[in-house]
Amino acid sequence: MCRIDALTACRHGGTYDGTTEARQAMKITIGNLKGGTAKTTSAVYLATALGAQGRTLLVDADPQGSALDWSTNTADWPTSVTVIPWSTRDLARRVKDVAADYAHIVIDTAPQHDVIMRQALLVTDHLIVPVTPSPMELRRLAATFDLAAEVDAISAVYARVLLCKVRSGTKTAVEAREMLVNDLDLPVFDAQTHLWESYLLSWGTVPDDALEYGKILKELQAVEAEIER
Ligand SMILES: Nc1ncnc2c1ncn2[C@@H]1O[C@H](COP(=O)(O)OP(=O)(O)O)[C@@H](O)[C@H]1O
Ligand SMILES: [Mg+2]
Repeated sequence: MCRIDALTACRHGGTYDGTTEARQAMKITIGNLKGGTAKTTSAVYLATALGAQGRTLLVDADPQGSALDWSTNTADWPTSVTVIPWSTRDLARRVKDVAADYAHIVIDTAPQHDVIMRQALLVTDHLIVPVTPSPMELRRLAATFDLAAEVDAISAVYARVLLCKVRSGTKTAVEAREMLVNDLDLPVFDAQTHLWESYLLSWGTVPDDALEYGKILKELQAVEAEIER
């Protein structure tokens, strides 16, 4: 999270202990200005998991339209999850206009689109920053967190890094986590996704939230429960 004073609280206090049964309204942006990792995958998995808990809006704010494409190519796409393609500079106002109709909001963004990410952060509380455990990618996270800090001055943004596509049995993820926490001083999810073929194959299907994203969502809901409004 980039609320500097709350950063430590979130990193420690927000750790999922497996007992929190939070069912709060979740407003999430998925974004990384400098990288293409697993943003759309994360957005679709989390939106469909939230859809099982309440009406969910998945905004596809990437001009490429990958999230919309996924939903329109999924025969049994859940009716509780509405996907709208809004990669527009008035994204915040559009989301505000319809927000009352939904319990949860997830916005999938594109890299290199500062304007859209800024708009998305104005109408969401959490920023999930998917990243692969590569030192080069980790070093490029500053741009995303700088933007989050800028919006945080106007509207609270709780940002944290999500390690994705971690190879089992390698030490890269351990080293990446150490670098994120110790060198870069960034909050990072305890949960992570592994490099699994099932993610590649899940395109065009309703994802199984019992997989790793279920754990990620629970950790995020525990963070949300810690936030004092
Ligand atoms: N944990 C994972 N393991 C394996 N492949 C993954 C994983 N997460 C995402 N992918 C694949 O990586 C590619 C890029 O993911 P995507 O979500 O489209 O990234 P982005 O939206 O950041 O460009 C897709 O082919 C997707 O299926
Ligand atoms: Mg994408």
